[in-house]
Amino acid sequence: MPPDTPVQQPSVSAAPTRPGSDPGPDIRAVGDDADLLTAWIAGIRTGFNAPPGGDPKEVSDRLAGMDLSRARGVFDEGRCVATFRSFDQELTAPGGNAVRADAVTAVTVSSTHRRRGLLTRLMTEDLRTARERGDTVATLIAAEYRIYGRYGFGPAASATTLEIDTARAGFDPRHTGRPEDLGLSGSIRFADPREVRKIGPELHERFRRLHPGAIDRDDFWWDRFTGVVRWSDDDSPTPRHLLYTDAEGVPQGLASHTIDETWTHGRPDNLLNVRSLIGTSPQAERALWHHLCSNDWVGRVSTGKRGPDDPVRSVLPDRRAARITNHWDFLWVRPLDTAAMLRSRSYRTDGELVVEVRDPLGLSGGRFLLTASPEGAECAPTDRSADLALDTGTLAGLWLGERSATLAHAAGELDEEAPGAVVRADLLLGTGRRPWCADVF
Ligand SMILES: CC(C)(COP(=O)(O)OP(=O)(O)OC[C@H]1O[C@@H](n2cnc3c(N)ncnc32)[C@H](O)[C@@H]1OP(=O)(O)O)[C@@H](O)C(=O)NCCC(=O)NCCS
Repeated sequence: MPPDTPVQQPSVSAAPTRPGSDPGPDIRAVGDDADLLTAWIAGIRTGFNAPPGGDPKEVSDRLAGMDLSRARGVFDEGRCVATFRSFDQELTAPGGNAVRADAVTAVTVSSTHRRRGLLTRLMTEDLRTARERGDTVATLIAAEYRIYGRYGFGPAASATTLEIDTARAGFDPRHTGRPEDLGLSGSIRFADPREVRKIGPELHERFRRLHPGAIDRDDFWWDRFTGVVRWSDDDSPTPRHLLYTDAEGVPQGLASHTIDETWTHGRPDNLLNVRSLIGTSPQAERALWHHLCSNDWVGRVSTGKRGPDDPVRSVLPDRRAARITNHWDFLWVRPLDTAAMLRSRSYRTDGELVVEVRDPLGLSGGRFLLTASPEGAECAPTDRSADLALDTGTLAGLWLGERSATLAHAAGELDEEAPGAVVRADLLLGTGRRPWCADVF
């Protein structure tokens, strides 16, 4: 359990608490202390309603490979009652630049300590530090819609899951699921986990630059995904990997899946679960989807979390064979440096826009002049009158291409201060495909 000598962060005491309320227990950095870390893991389990754990092997499994330098806990009477961690991440903006993100995760407060302002203390401190460090945005995956807007986050990349009834898809039974069935010149073969561990990271680096909303995958991610590292309590099935290579033999796509075997009345009705499918071109994505959906014995394909504009339906002769099983806000983004954020992406056309950004925490608000072009942009504070006024959360969705200015305006989340500014914003900010974040963190 926690020793008496906490590693107190000096700036934490400056974090706001509720007026007139007790500042509450101390926030401690837990990264360098094995006992604090063990209690911190137990705190996460409590906050996420998991059964008590505590097996030392499980704890060390969980911690290995994790950047704990910004892991924080709140301790009360020897228990860790609130947890929070942030780490460095890269997030792809429209146009392919990766911006520095403060990725927030492991957010829990035990049920005994909720609604006393602990999350607010942890979050405001972390966001202020990230802003001072020079991060452009903060990111998180929200468990519930109503938690994070108050801290300036907004939904920025939604996720869609689909189930495909392959018998209804209308594929020609003479087809083999090979790329040539689609008139493509590449080929598909199985790859073993060691090969995926070797070539996957480089393939993913090319992939993520093409997809706004994509985040980087570190070595630990690949070790876990390919089974090099396996947590002691992980009994999930090992995926199979399919590699799509182009006509020159260069890997351009990777699909990983598991299959649940089911037979109904003597007929195969296996469920194929897609764990990951990435491609560096629409051809690669289509070839892999086509292959997975044309597999003998596979009656249903569960796509896992895809971007809302995923091309999976385009390979189905009968597109109604795909049914959306879930669609929700997934990745939330919080602007930390508005000018840097708007400079980081490309725009559809040349133009200017003055945006007034309201920030609930006073970190990145102000009035900014954006001078945009397809090649890049300039953005700086300005005294010119605003064309649009919006809050940081709305800006996040517009910036990444999740939402149009027209829709934000219709929802009452954006004020048009100059006539025609909403249409002008959409002409500048429009993207061909909505963003997609493929990974949970
Ligand atoms: C979500 C959670 C971390 C909030 O922690 P907390 O310490 O209770 O939050 P705070 O006391 O700082 O609350 C700040 C504000 O957010 C509101 N809020 C907190 N959680 C909320 C929720 N789930 N839904 C709606 N509002 C919520 C509070 O009412 C409070 O509002 P106020 O300032 O207007 O009074 C905590 O409830 C929890 O651990 N939940 C289960 C695990 C979880 O969902 N984690 C998030 C993973 S992404």
